[in-house]
Amino acid sequence: MSTPSLTQRPEWQALQNHSQHIKQTHLRALFAAEPQRGDDLTTEAEGIFLDYSKNRVTAETMQLLWSLAAACDVGGHVAAMFRGDAINLTEKRAVLHTALRAPRLATILVDGRNVVPDVHVVLDRMSEFATRVRDGSWLGHTGKRIRNIVNIGIGGSDLGPVMAYEALRHFAARDMTFRFVSNIDGTDFAEATRDLNPEETLFIAASKTFTTLETMTNARTARAWCLAALKDDAAVAKHFVAVSTNAAEVSKFGIDTANMFGFWDWVGGRYSMDSSIGLSTMLAIGPDAFREMLGGFHAMDEHFRTAPVESNLPMLLGLLSVWNNNFLGAHTVAVLPYDQYLKRFPAYLQQLTMESTGKHVTTAGASVDYETGPIYWGEPGTNGQHSFYQLIHQGTRLIPCDFIAFARSQNPLGRHHDLLMANVFAQAEALAFGKTLAEVTAEGNPDWLAPHRSFEGNRPSNVILAESLTPAMLGKLVALYEHSVFVQAAIWNIDAFDQWGVELGKVLAQRIVPELESATDSDLKHDSSTNALIRRYRSMR
Ligand code: F6P
Repeated sequence: MSTPSLTQRPEWQALQNHSQHIKQTHLRALFAAEPQRGDDLTTEAEGIFLDYSKNRVTAETMQLLWSLAAACDVGGHVAAMFRGDAINLTEKRAVLHTALRAPRLATILVDGRNVVPDVHVVLDRMSEFATRVRDGSWLGHTGKRIRNIVNIGIGGSDLGPVMAYEALRHFAARDMTFRFVSNIDGTDFAEATRDLNPEETLFIAASKTFTTLETMTNARTARAWCLAALKDDAAVAKHFVAVSTNAAEVSKFGIDTANMFGFWDWVGGRYSMDSSIGLSTMLAIGPDAFREMLGGFHAMDEHFRTAPVESNLPMLLGLLSVWNNNFLGAHTVAVLPYDQYLKRFPAYLQQLTMESTGKHVTTAGASVDYETGPIYWGEPGTNGQHSFYQLIHQGTRLIPCDFIAFARSQNPLGRHHDLLMANVFAQAEALAFGKTLAEVTAEGNPDWLAPHRSFEGNRPSNVILAESLTPAMLGKLVALYEHSVFVQAAIWNIDAFDQWGVELGKVLAQRIVPELESATDSDLKHDSSTNALIRRYRSMR
């Protein structure tokens, strides 16, 4: 018997019917009917407290979501991932970022080989290298100490490293400078290196494939920049290391594979910040703190693998996202970290979520007849409050929000942290409960002004609260979102681990490059718009 399509499943249809009732119900009514709701619809694990009570759900909604998860065999999918099955179907690969943070003595088999010892061999090499750079025993070509690290990568080979560096800056070596170059726009490289001394600079060329146009172009520019100052090809060995799965391309580029840190095709780019792609993170915070971060990831992996659905954080976050997206019609999710150190977290999550769930066909290649991945976006609070929150509060769109906050600041300055936290709680409260026209009028506002000053409320949010942003906590937080994405993809029956959608633009750009450099017009065979833009650029530059 063939599997019913998602929307034909009775569990889906039950949620559809139930949503008609919920759509008529305000969060004010839900809270009034259930005085304990603010305690009941919460859960806590691994030091992360999740309050999901301000979502437009009831106990029945949650039961129905859990039934949907069971019907879609999310548990079976989870087991298959952890087992190392080739669940990335279109690329025929296992998906084992969880092996990157497995303890040394664990066993995880890929094609009959235990990959955990391989992971730890690389981690040990990274630790030894990071220690030498940090303690000054790895010197540059002219004998100077390395003070600047420049990570060159893009997508997963950039967003994870830069996000983690910013997030854990408090724990970073303050006598070193860390820069991240990703864009093929030469400005990125120029600005990142303009004040650096090549004698004290180490480049990490980070690319899973070692063929990515942006990274290879920036790495070549970096080599030229370095050699222009150091004037000796032998300097490359002291100023360049590579992080990749592709040893052949690394050698071809001119980096000795003795200076390469490997990883494996079963690590997706956007799931790779805890592989050797995290070398810059380790250089910043040191091997011990890096291992604490891996410990955090692993703790969340174990929680996800073993906790019952009702108290399983990634499961809850994932199912609530399905609910908001598919049954309440929300198209986006705002990620709002109330911690300045997490300023790049929304950008990181954009790749993690949208490259994973931006899919229009099922794993079997059939068109979906439901919405898949929502758009993730956001900025740290409180900055966003003075910018786009207006639309979240009073606009016509439903935008579920994830507030992320910590009880203790790394920089306790006067009243700053209480003021910050007051804003988290106030925003979630305002979104949920709003302010009625009657309340606004009772405050003395004239009739013409009252509609402008009223807030409908009923806007859903999660509050994710933890003690403080440590390396371990960052690992837990990232793994929480990784697994939440996994749950959503399992429900939608899509491949969360491929990214074919990035290919077409890459191919077309390769075709256009020589056309920009050529003087003849006759070779332009695009549509009239693309042809005209190319001609205009040629004449304008
Ligand atoms: O273009 C998308 C992508 O393939 C991402 O999935 C990946 O993280 C990024 O490019 C960089 O790839 P690489 O690490 O191979 O340079």
